Amino acid sequence: MDLLSPLELGALRLRNRIVMAPMTRSRSDEAAMPNELMREYYRQRAGAGLIITEGVAPSANGLGYCRTPGIYTEAQVAGWREITDAVHAEGGAIVAQIMHVGRVASHYNKPEGSETVAPSAIQAKAQIYTDQAGMQDMDMPRALTLEEIPQVIEEYRQATANALAAGFDGVELHCTSGYLPAQFLSTGTNQREDAYGGSVENRARFVLEALEAMIAEAGAGRVGMRICPGNPFNDLHDDNPGETFDYLLGKASALPMAYLHVIRTPKGPVDNLALGRKHFAGRLMGNESFSLEEADAAVAAGELEAVSFGRAFIANPDLVSRWQQKLPLAEVDFSTIYTPGPNGYTSYPNAA
Ligand SMILES: Cc1cc2nc3c(=O)[nH]c(=O)nc-3n(C[C@H](O)[C@H](O)[C@H](O)COP(=O)(O)O)c2cc1C
Repeated sequence: MDLLSPLELGALRLRNRIVMAPMTRSRSDEAAMPNELMREYYRQRAGAGLIITEGVAPSANGLGYCRTPGIYTEAQVAGWREITDAVHAEGGAIVAQIMHVGRVASHYNKPEGSETVAPSAIQAKAQIYTDQAGMQDMDMPRALTLEEIPQVIEEYRQATANALAAGFDGVELHCTSGYLPAQFLSTGTNQREDAYGGSVENRARFVLEALEAMIAEAGAGRVGMRICPGNPFNDLHDDNPGETFDYLLGKASALPMAYLHVIRTPKGPVDNLALGRKHFAGRLMGNESFSLEEADAAVAAGELEAVSFGRAFIANPDLVSRWQQKLPLAEVDFSTIYTPGPNGYTSYPNAA
């Protein structure tokens, strides 16, 4: 096996094992709409074995960053359909990353009538960029009531149904980087005293219910989950990430998932790839600062089924063919990562 060999991940069919990692690029419109520019960006990168989209909000409450897309209106579904059609026409595969940011939000970046909600009313000690007012403190979230939690789970189910209607091959639950599922899992952000807080069983309940709802909608082998145990991003803290993820992955192993997407953190408190291998019974996708050579070796050794690449895909839309031909990689211009328009987005050329 090598990076170029095809792969079945549950019901997903990959032409190769070079996956495009999910990346927020802030090129959406005000109404959280996917658009033509995004279609061209993803079409250019369809040579990936699988594209995982940028984080996509399952509801207006799930938005938090500027110019990020959703998948909760008919117009958004129609917009995504154009994108999945373009990727499929190139022979690619694409899943939507469902991302509810919870408390990692500024109201400046959210539509009127939406709210910033979280497991507990604890503000993240961090700032977030807004087009209207520059850097802002993150919102003080309102704690979800017990009665509201099933509605949020329902948002994940409906987003999955919408993703399938939009032609996606599957969905990925974003369960890291300090967003809503991670807020429920972690002791620092979850101080609830009901069935969704306290013990590890209770803190994992939200994530497992979201996964079950997504799988009930998508069927077996079309739902993945992304994790990074111990990741402190966005002011997240868990007293014992090893224990939390032992439990979560044990339960998730019993579900018919497509894959587990693990971000390794060389400097973190937990060896995430080892933890994933030990506690998850299904297929593993690795990520974070892999070179193509290192990824190829990990696949050849049977340690990982596939590896995702983020930054390399920004500057190298034809990353797979560059690897095939052993061509050098282009460098990312970080000044245009989140800026509106095609510059630094669809402007990177293929190798000649
Ligand atoms: C501009 C940018 C945006 C990102 N947005 C997301 C996101 O929406 N969802 C997510 O799970 N990870 C996101 N990430 C993390 C990447 O998926 C990936 O984990 C990270 O870039 C490390 O992989 P790499 O070393 O191959 O770049 C983002 C990374 C970058 C550089």
